[in-house]
Amino acid sequence: MKLYNPGGERGSAMSYAALLEKIEIMRSTLRWATRMERPDVEKLLRQANTLRDEVMGLSHKERFVEAIGAETASERRAGSSAELPAQLADALPAGERRRALLARSFVFEGTFGDNPKLLDALEIAEKAAPTDLPVLVDGESGTGKELMAKVIHANGSRADKPYISVNCGAIPDSLLESELFGHKKGAFTGAANDRKGKFESAHKGTIFLDEIGELPLPGQVKLLRVLQSHEIQRVGSDETISVDARIVAATNKNLRRLIEQGSFREDLFYRLSVIHVTLPPLRERKDEIPLLIAYYGDESAEALKRRPVALTPRLRDFLLAYGYPGNIRELRNIMYRISCLAGEAADLSHLPEDIRPALAPAVAPASTPASATMAAANVSLAEAKRAASDEAERHCLERGLQEVGGTVTELARRWDMNRSHLQILLKKHGLHSKDFKH
Ligand SMILES: Nc1ncnc2c1ncn2[C@@H]1O[C@H](COP(=O)(O)OP(=O)(O)OP(=O)(O)O)[C@@H](O)[C@H]1O
Ligand SMILES: [Mg+2]
Repeated sequence: MKLYNPGGERGSAMSYAALLEKIEIMRSTLRWATRMERPDVEKLLRQANTLRDEVMGLSHKERFVEAIGAETASERRAGSSAELPAQLADALPAGERRRALLARSFVFEGTFGDNPKLLDALEIAEKAAPTDLPVLVDGESGTGKELMAKVIHANGSRADKPYISVNCGAIPDSLLESELFGHKKGAFTGAANDRKGKFESAHKGTIFLDEIGELPLPGQVKLLRVLQSHEIQRVGSDETISVDARIVAATNKNLRRLIEQGSFREDLFYRLSVIHVTLPPLRERKDEIPLLIAYYGDESAEALKRRPVALTPRLRDFLLAYGYPGNIRELRNIMYRISCLAGEAADLSHLPEDIRPALAPAVAPASTPASATMAAANVSLAEAKRAASDEAERHCLERGLQEVGGTVTELARRWDMNRSHLQILLKKHGLHSKDFKH
């Protein structure tokens, strides 16, 4: 097994020693057992699962270092940056800051990148994690807010306790209170049994309140009360129950603006945002796009059990320049889509339709319907792009089918495309391969 040990830093070496020790304990349990009772087997399985998670965690770190890994050990400064006081972190170059986090055994949970703004966020998370202070994470959709909440949980003293996630935007108003605080049997129609709420489930652990900006005002009042008293009451019950849950909240809304508009309580905002972390959008981390493409290219290939797909230069150029309004999630999805649809090499045609640039042969003459659509003053740019792209696609498919005399397999081979994807495209445009038989 290739051991992860960047520059021999202390934290990682110790992680391996600890892992080996655990494996040894499990081995000796098995070696000396004459027979095992069910509880022992279950215990062993639990230990094995924990171990697997830890190994996966290390492998994440290894991949992270490999993906970034331009510098060689000799280029690193003498001595471990783990020894440097944290205050000096700001003065360090990004690579050193990331390595210092690694050397301090920071758990990244798969978060990677060494953009200074992201590192700022990770360093804040590192300091906030061991405390019980509430953290508010904000940032655009797909920037990694939920991942950051997991990072905070994983690096704190509650890491082995529950992590409970609640999507505040997805709970109907009428069920909110019961969902968060639980209910007593018979509290309302349909409450057939006593039920624990999310806060109780998160006792001693972390509760992640996602989309907190969507929480309606009455829910905000109730949440505020819990934050102040650390107690809850199940719906329909007078009994107060103490809960000790660490709160991490996330939003892609500008809460200050919501406060001005009167839809978010200012006092709740201040309670939740004792530590405030803002994640940068991908367009402000463009330098990391090549790394993310490589990472998700590999990850998707692994998930889809295929070889990593090669990108044509024009697709690569597109992916490097694209604005990614859906941030890392969008980039990840694109890489999975490409890996699923393309053969050996992926091209622009494998991009989702709504972002696909019109292909050169597809530039339509002025009289075509798509151009006419585009000329209409009231269509949005996205619609115009989609129409042009559709037309380009159809044009390409027709020409391609003509060239191969309607043999779809041959066309798929020539275009290095997955045959079934090609069939889907033909169906979409109502094209029949037999119409192109010579
Ligand atoms: N820095 C990062 N490194 C690696 N993967 C990342 C990073 N940031 C985000 N991701 C990945 O991007 C995807 C979206 O992340 P996540 O769900 O945490 O975003 P979010 O901000 O909560 O989005 P939304 O606002 O839409 O809920 C996930 O697959 C996550 O693993
Ligand atoms: Mg999210």
